[in-house]
Amino acid sequence: MTGQIGESKINEVRERTDIIELVSQYVTLKRSGANHTGLCPFHSEKSPSFSVHAGRQFYHCFGCGVGGDVFSFLMKIEGLAFPDAVRRLAERAGIELEERQLSPQEERRRQQRERLYRVNELAADYFHQTLMEQPVGEVGRQYLKQRGYGRKAAGEYRLGYALEEWEALGRTLQQQGANVEDARTLGLIRPREQGGGDYDLFRGRLMFPIYDLSGRVVAFGGRVLGDGKPKYINSPESPIYHKGRVLFGLYQARQAMRQSGEVILVEGYFDQLALYRAGFPQVVATCGTALTGEHARLLKRYVQRVLLLFDQDAAGRQATFKAMVALQEEGVPAQVIELPSGEDPDSFVQSQGAEAFKLRLQQARPVMDLFMEDVLAGADGGIEQKVQAAKVVIERVAGLTNSMEQDLYLKDLARRSGIDLELLKQTLAETLQQPVQQPDDYRGTPPEPFFPQPDFPGPPVAPLKPGWSRPEEMVLCLLLHNEDARQQISAAGLQDYFFTPAAFKVAELLLRETAAPETFKDLIVAKLDPDLSGLVIPLMHKDPEQFAGEVEALLRGCKASLQRELKKKQREETLNKIRQAEQAGHLGPEDLVGQFKNLK
Ligand code: UTP
Ligand code: MN
Repeated sequence: MTGQIGESKINEVRERTDIIELVSQYVTLKRSGANHTGLCPFHSEKSPSFSVHAGRQFYHCFGCGVGGDVFSFLMKIEGLAFPDAVRRLAERAGIELEERQLSPQEERRRQQRERLYRVNELAADYFHQTLMEQPVGEVGRQYLKQRGYGRKAAGEYRLGYALEEWEALGRTLQQQGANVEDARTLGLIRPREQGGGDYDLFRGRLMFPIYDLSGRVVAFGGRVLGDGKPKYINSPESPIYHKGRVLFGLYQARQAMRQSGEVILVEGYFDQLALYRAGFPQVVATCGTALTGEHARLLKRYVQRVLLLFDQDAAGRQATFKAMVALQEEGVPAQVIELPSGEDPDSFVQSQGAEAFKLRLQQARPVMDLFMEDVLAGADGGIEQKVQAAKVVIERVAGLTNSMEQDLYLKDLARRSGIDLELLKQTLAETLQQPVQQPDDYRGTPPEPFFPQPDFPGPPVAPLKPGWSRPEEMVLCLLLHNEDARQQISAAGLQDYFFTPAAFKVAELLLRETAAPETFKDLIVAKLDPDLSGLVIPLMHKDPEQFAGEVEALLRGCKASLQRELKKKQREETLNKIRQAEQAGHLGPEDLVGQFKNLK
């Protein structure tokens, strides 16, 4: 069995959800005509190319090409699988879903996950209850107090205390009807090696529940009360917990993140607590792991920039640069907040206060600055080292999307390294031509699929593109589905809207004098090679509603993104030519530099 929610129910939920209201929870929208526009939450941009069409209940971004209906919006922004998005919106709209049968395997997994959430919930309650109410929880309360926190913080975060005993949690869970196997899967208990029952993983620790985006407890971090080792123990990965995808505090911080457009990224649980309470609620912590590409994508949904605040030591710097790479790959600007050495956010705020921290935050500087400083400082030995260091920096500069920024960093690098600016520019041009590489030291974690939910059918996968750009595809759809658009494009001329030969060819065909919309399919099949027609026919089956109304605005948007695409392409081509000419020995360094300048 594939689907589980009936098609008609899905349609009902879609119809009953107001897309403007939904999107407005995440994006500040401004009305403009029949549309609403705002900054795209799915890529970073300064001028709004994200538009939402109330009447037709869909959204589209001219900048990055995303688009779809209320479900796809919620899936993307909250990281949900399709059925979960439907369920959420159904709940909002007060629609009951009678769900269809899952396959036995799907059903088993769904039930397992539900049980795991429940067991974590029981454990969180038990730990919390012990900390808040029990006489035996006094040591935990004392510890928390000594760290400067009282009942309020404990209540808000549902902090807990795990007794210094071997079977306290295990017994409690069993009494409450939890299944031993589930508790083991969550890593809350472990079987004894000699057999004879299980023992608790967390003993004598202050417990931090880790929540997912729906506020469910997916894992725990536990801190030893004194100087014991290890200082922290974290839940192992499980079917409901992947540390590379979860950030501590995100559940509490996301509202503030959206409002401020920024997030402070710290390393420690207590650091998150401390900043949150000190009036910087836009703060999250990684859970004892490096920042992954998935974390970066997750953050990107809420903020436009990330403020990195890791430990002020060598390890902290390495973590900072690793995070820099992960964020850069997602196009998220990152800055660094610096503290006096030996301080972490928790200790700093406790000793110096919130105002002092605010100053530090205002003084945050681009992470690339720090990176350059760090790499060059490590290369004071000789010329070769310096050259190597410059190359390392240039590779990162090449990863920046803004060419003015690139330019400024190169100038800075020239100044700091004493290497000629034009030479650096030349190296950058070469680097831009190579496939993306990362220096080993700063290599990020390889990306993992973000929604590995094999038991649920996702939305249909888009077919391979024939090399045409997204805006071109959008205009093709308009040609196929909208008479106004056809007239306007025909009047303006195709050259304004297409530059890829395949797209041009299709458009020409659709605009022939004899071509009427009823005949499109026959024309496409008769006149285009099967490869091409195979790519156009699916466009015909898109929901025509998506391409109705507001044609002028849509076309303007397409034209603007097209021009950007075209520039990018031309730049790439020119760079290619320069490189070929250089390899063939046709160009001297001056010519090269001159040509490269013309590109800008
Ligand atoms: P730190 O060692 O910097 O500790 O670890 P901290 O956060 O300042 O802790 P306090 O203030 O002494 O209580 C930073 C983070 O690294 C992870 C935890 O997530 C911790 O918050 N960590 C640290 C572990 O997972 N295991 C450890 O043994 C130590
Ligand atoms: Mn600390």
